[in-house]
Amino acid sequence: MSFPFLGFGLGLRPKHYPQILDVWPAVDWFEVISENFMVPGGRPLHMLERIREHYPIALHGVSLSVGSTDPLDSEYLRRLRELACRFAPAWISDHLCWTGVGGHNLHDLLPLPYTEEALAHVVRRVNQVQESLGRRILLENVSTYLEFRHSVMPEWEFLTQIAERADCGILLDINNIFVSAFNHGFSPLEYVEAIPTHRVHQFHLAGYSDKGSFLHDTHDHPVAGAVWQLYSHALRRFGAVSTSIEWDDHIPPFAVVQAEAAHAKQIFEAVHAGSDPRSNATAVVEADYRA
Ligand SMILES: [Fe+2]
Repeated sequence: MSFPFLGFGLGLRPKHYPQILDVWPAVDWFEVISENFMVPGGRPLHMLERIREHYPIALHGVSLSVGSTDPLDSEYLRRLRELACRFAPAWISDHLCWTGVGGHNLHDLLPLPYTEEALAHVVRRVNQVQESLGRRILLENVSTYLEFRHSVMPEWEFLTQIAERADCGILLDINNIFVSAFNHGFSPLEYVEAIPTHRVHQFHLAGYSDKGSFLHDTHDHPVAGAVWQLYSHALRRFGAVSTSIEWDDHIPPFAVVQAEAAHAKQIFEAVHAGSDPRSNATAVVEADYRA
């Protein structure tokens, strides 16, 4: 299956339902947290049905735990498949991480060691997930705060190898690249330049919190200036890639998040003025970026 270009969207948050249902604002698409709607019935599903009549959506999960050593949760996959049948999302995504082990859910997106063993393990599981869902998925790079001594390759190579060997797509979170690059001292540009253009089908943008010695991916701020700059470089490299804004804490009025998506679109238009962005141009990014 192909992953269409949906434009510039927002993460759908219940706080904004009244405004969305009232005025059907100009937003290209919504990204929907899968688990919030994996319920038998009731208000959430009714809301989503109404919203889906007006907007394209993509499903974004947080519980797949594709990197765990626990068996994949077949009941979770069944419910996700059911949700996808009902709402026909443009695609389904989750994170390249693990969220629990031994039956315990740690409710966090935890990093993997970047080893050949972990690579083979995750590739096997992505294949199982894609077979179960009957479609290819996107996997997202998470922000991390520690690294494993065992790792034998950088994160960008691990992510690339997963996508190539499992034939899945990549949801590239530009803010997560920036946060992890700061926390671990690598170049965010080197990361962006190493990811194969044909695998990237969505970008995430979000705001982090500056904790002094490290950056924390809190999704409670506007997108930072340096992240916008990195996004602009990513647009030059990857071309037209569907983008969504994530804002999960201290959620502001709808217009504020909508303005972030509008800003993403402005940058896209400025970057691609006069060219055909859908060609997924691989122009070399300028080397003026400094983290
Ligand atoms: Fe993200």
